[in-house]
Amino acid sequence: MTATLLWGKEAAAEIRAQVKERFDRIAARGIQPGLAIVTVGETPAGNPYVRSKSRAAEELGVRARVERFPGTTTEDALHAKLRELSADRGVHGIILQLPLPSHLPEDRHLEDIAPIKDVDGLHPLNVGRWVHGLPGHRPATPLGVLELLRRHCGDLTGKRVVIIGRSRIVGRPLSVFLSERSPGLNATVTLCHSATRDLKSVAREAEILVVAIGRRRAITSEYVRPGAVVVDVGIHEIPEPPPGGPRFEGDVDMASVRSVASAVTPVPGGVGPMTVAFLVRNLADAVEAQEGAR
Ligand SMILES: NC(=O)c1ccc[n+]([C@@H]2O[C@H](COP(=O)([O-])OP(=O)(O)OC[C@H]3O[C@@H](n4cnc5c(N)ncnc54)[C@H](OP(=O)(O)O)[C@@H]3O)[C@@H](O)[C@H]2O)c1
Repeated sequence: MTATLLWGKEAAAEIRAQVKERFDRIAARGIQPGLAIVTVGETPAGNPYVRSKSRAAEELGVRARVERFPGTTTEDALHAKLRELSADRGVHGIILQLPLPSHLPEDRHLEDIAPIKDVDGLHPLNVGRWVHGLPGHRPATPLGVLELLRRHCGDLTGKRVVIIGRSRIVGRPLSVFLSERSPGLNATVTLCHSATRDLKSVAREAEILVVAIGRRRAITSEYVRPGAVVVDVGIHEIPEPPPGGPRFEGDVDMASVRSVASAVTPVPGGVGPMTVAFLVRNLADAVEAQEGAR
């Protein structure tokens, strides 16, 4: 078997076109939306996620700014900046790029972001809303994975899904969304992590296997049930000299898994574009919530 590649580019372009219409209506009212991305302790070359989010926002007429802090920054300095951005009427969306250096408490700083501007859906108030199935900001990557699965698999009711990785931004929210009691969802979800025993045999139970562990090419065909659909969330940038580089790979060993799975998302071009599409959709929601939708 050679698995089909599940590209996200087409679906992402459709979503971005719908979002663009909303931003055009906002611009016609004389409003220029603002997005602030706060990073701590970045490399001088910058972060590819931050670049693609800023670019996507700017293409929609959004004023995107990146607030960079050194890795040695203090809790008070970060707190002050996030509170300042939360109060700034020209900033409609705030992203705090995770993970933070270990001396900074992520939970506290996520609470520093005004919930209405929390386009990553990680403020406890927004987390509470999505856990209860209520409307509000939800993390973009799991929304993107869900949309890809809906388009490829259709109704997910009763499907056996295994997610490897329980991060607050990918695995955990995805497990909640997939198991929601809603038409088309209602999947049976197993959430795995570094303490899961016999991961290979648990993963092999999956009709749909989602991998978000942050370890390059860690998942081989031994983890995959024949015919399964595999979603690779991981992204690893591999430096290569120009003109070719850099290259990107996922958490899945594509050559190995493609011989067993029925479909696999490629890296790049699979989940990544979907994340960006849902992020700008979340930003449109945030702008309309603050400025009124018309
Ligand atoms: N495509 C996109 O748009 C997108 C968006 C976000 C992230 N990513 C990428 O996705 C990957 C994961 O990111 P993340 O932020 O979710 O990662 P993370 O916060 O580092 O969490 C990794 C998770 O994987 C688990 N894990 C690590 N090694 C494992 C192993 N050997 N067996 C089983 N579980 C293991 C960890 O378990 P413990 O909880 O027990 O430590 C943790 O739950 C990264 O490559 C990241 O760059 C891509």
